[in-house]
This record gives sequence, structure tokens and C-alpha cells, in this order.
Amino acid sequence: MTCAPRCNSTSLALGLETSCDETSAAVLRGRGEIRSLVTATQDHLHQVFGGVVPEVASRRHLEVITRVVQEALDTAAVGFGDLSLIAVTQGPGLVGSLLVGVSAAKGYSLATGLPLAAVNHLEGHLMSAFLHYPGEEPPAQDLYPTLGLIASGGHSDLVLMQAPGEYRTVGQTRDDAAGEALDKAARLLGLGFPGGPALEKAAQGGNPHAVDFPRPEAGNFDFSFSGLKTALVRHLQEHGTPKSEQEGADLAASYQQAVVDCLIRGLRRAARHYRVRQLLLGGGVSANQVLRRAFAALAADLGVPGACPPLHLCTDNAAMIAAAGFLQASRRGPDALDFDVFSVLALTS
Ligand code: KG4
Ligand code: ZN
Repeated sequence: MTCAPRCNSTSLALGLETSCDETSAAVLRGRGEIRSLVTATQDHLHQVFGGVVPEVASRRHLEVITRVVQEALDTAAVGFGDLSLIAVTQGPGLVGSLLVGVSAAKGYSLATGLPLAAVNHLEGHLMSAFLHYPGEEPPAQDLYPTLGLIASGGHSDLVLMQAPGEYRTVGQTRDDAAGEALDKAARLLGLGFPGGPALEKAAQGGNPHAVDFPRPEAGNFDFSFSGLKTALVRHLQEHGTPKSEQEGADLAASYQQAVVDCLIRGLRRAARHYRVRQLLLGGGVSANQVLRRAFAALAADLGVPGACPPLHLCTDNAAMIAAAGFLQASRRGPDALDFDVFSVLALTS
């Protein structure tokens, strides 16, 4: 069986995303028109621990997933009979969390006969810039080669796309991901959880050149952020915690700038090397305003469009999973019901 005939510009897909701590469901029309998107965040449950606790996350997914799905269907004013596909995140992510979304998707598929697409979360992040609401244009265009930077809590990947669905990872982090580097710094500075947005807020009004943090090199188009975190630890050992709000803002802004500079340096080198026609940004860290501004400046400098999803589509959401599901199902048909989940999952074509 293949769902290719029903994956056209008017087909509807239900997307499910539970790879970490967001329970999200969406109804998508065609490749990218969002009919509904409902996301239940768990930040309030993990805040007290200073990070995502896997078992707490999967239990919460289990409690809310059916309500989130129903709300997504209701908001789009559709039922299962109107859908052509169910797309769900298969990995990478927290195994217990992924299992909840995948089990729900399999249950819905068995009950309705709808085909399933097991989606790579990273492909979802790349698809975010192709999403839009009815009547709007998507930020990204079909221009290839396109180079995508996925900067999230688990990844800092440079992905070259020669055509829709054709991926080659040309750079990645050798140690911590960009989001992880920001989260760890926020924890060291006592800024709370989630760390990226907390650090961005603390950095407001700070001087990004106040502290001379390193911009570690990792060779080729790879990244390395662990040395940066060590530099912050050393700085705190030598100077103590910031004595004033301004000093704290300077420190946060300098650290944030170093992370952004490393990401942009890698993106610039790879974009030049592969002579790309478009840049894409995706993943939770792409909600960061300093990164977004630097990304836009780089795209302008290179003379290519720089496509960046709106803020609420940068972080984990099910609309991007539905978009990736459509693309994948039209490429290789639906997946059998017996697929597994994976904490590590490479992005392949
Ligand atoms: O893509 P995402 O929602 O989940 C993963 O797939 O990991 O990304 C989460 C990451 C976290 O590290 C979070 O701190 C970071 O994205 N993040 C940000 C911002 N919003 C989320 N980092 C910097 N500035 C932000 N505004
Ligand atoms: Zn993500």
C-alpha cells in the first residue's frame, strides 16, 4: 500500500511529536499549511529539577496526549475520516517519551486504517521554515542546494539539501550541542530552566564583548562547545559570580555571542564551500534573537535568502513532523506498524 496518491496539496495529515518534553499534535494541509497546532509544554514540571527528567516527561505525555490530539482535530474542524496520513516522531529523542507518541500513532492507525509515517525529528526541524498559516507564504522556497543549520538541545547540525528530502549532514558537534551549551551556562549562572531563553533574557542590555570567551575550532564544518563551557567555569572560579545585574548581563551576552559566532562561522564556511542558494535555520536555539540577526546578516552578505521559522515553530512542534511525514510518505510510501523508536537516529535521504 502507498499513500502517495493521497499526499497532494489538499491532503490532511495528523502530526504527533513527543520526543522530549512537549506534547504536540497538528493538522497540516499539503506540504506546509497549518490547520491547527496544539502543544502542551511541561516546563513547569521540570523547572524544579533544572532539566528534563525523562520519566516525568513520558508520564506527562501519557496523561495529555489524547486530549492534545482531540484538540488539534477539533480546532481544524476535521475527524480521522478526513485525514490521509498520521506522522509521528520516531527519534532522536528520549525513548520513553518517543514511545508514548509512537504507541498513540499506531493505535490511531490500527483503529482508522490510516497509513503511518515514522519521522526523523531533525527532518522536522528542517521543514519548519516551509510551514505557514492559510493565506501566508512560507519563509523558505524550493531553492537548491539549500544549507540548513539545526541548533537544538541535542544537535548542532549543518545539513545540505540538494532536493526536497535529500539530506547530507556536512557538519555536526563533536561534543555538546549549542542548546546544551546555553542550558549548561544558564544552570552555572543560576538562571533557571529552560536555559536558552533564560540566558537570552539575562543577556539583554549586556555587552557581548565584555568577556573574551574562546570560539573553539573543531575542523571541517564541525562544532565544539565543551571548551566554551569550561571557559565559563574558569571565569566563575577566578571572578566569582557576577556582583551586579550589569556584570551578569555582560557575562551572559558574551557567552551567548560566542555560541552564535561559532554557529555562524560554520554556516558561512559550509555555505561558501557548497555554493548554496538558500540558508535555513531550525531547532530551538533559532528562537534566539542574536542568532536570528546574525543569520539574516550572513544571508544578506552571501546574497541568498535566509529562511527562519517564526518563533513558536523553532522549538519542538507537531506541524513540522506532519510536513516531514508527507514528504517522506510521498518518497517511500507509508511505514509498517512494527517500527521502533531510537534515541540516536541519523538523518538520511
Ligand atoms: O528543538 P528544541 O525545542 O528541542 C530539541 O530538539 O532539543 O530545542 C531546545 C533547545 C534548548 O537547549 C533551549 O534552551 C534552546 O533550544 N532554546 C533557546 C531559545 N529557546 C529555546 N536557546 C537560545 N535562545 C532561545 N530563545
Ligand atoms: Zn527539537
